[in-house]
Amino acid sequence: METTNKLFLSNKAWAMEKMSEDSDYFKELAKDQRPAYLWIGCSDSRVPANEIIGAEPGELFVHRNIANMVVHTDLNLLSVLQYAVEYLEVKHIILCGHTGCGGVKASMTQNSFDLLNKWLRNLKDVYRLHRDQLNAITDENEKLNEMVKLNIVEQVNNLVKTSVVQAAWKHHNRPYIHGWLYNMETGLLDSIIEAKPGDPIDPIYAYSDL
Ligand code: CO
Repeated sequence: METTNKLFLSNKAWAMEKMSEDSDYFKELAKDQRPAYLWIGCSDSRVPANEIIGAEPGELFVHRNIANMVVHTDLNLLSVLQYAVEYLEVKHIILCGHTGCGGVKASMTQNSFDLLNKWLRNLKDVYRLHRDQLNAITDENEKLNEMVKLNIVEQVNNLVKTSVVQAAWKHHNRPYIHGWLYNMETGLLDSIIEAKPGDPIDPIYAYSDL
């Protein structure tokens, strides 16, 4: 109880601070949302989407899961993606991974994690695709962070493979997709990969009749 009481107190202090700056703040915010960005990030508590880019409420539409995955059978992610692209008309999708990701690390072991195995399987598939490159790295931490980067590239590519993104590219010339790496040791972001309307799409994943 004590823990949640603290959260309610923090919430009240935050709401009062916002109101003291602008008494119409919540009234205006409640009217509508027009975020320019969809953020797909890891659930890790140390990578809070809004805070690390200084975004205010209303600026960021957010989806987070373990290891920032874009799984083509995940109705949750796909619904968020479709809503953000087709209805909110976001200009940018940010796919953000981070160094030291526990989900990525778990996928690189031979340990079983019950239900989580189903999720981590998607990461093991990324490892398999880049096995030679990853196996050549001897330092474990370096290997983990290389896998994190390769996963960011893979998940950006997975976004491009969706009909939602391909249709929006064709008819609306958006969204721009950004694969970013958040460095936990420095708090800074790096750009890893970009994908934009007009970029070539692997023919086997390209829909010609959208
Ligand atoms: Co993570």
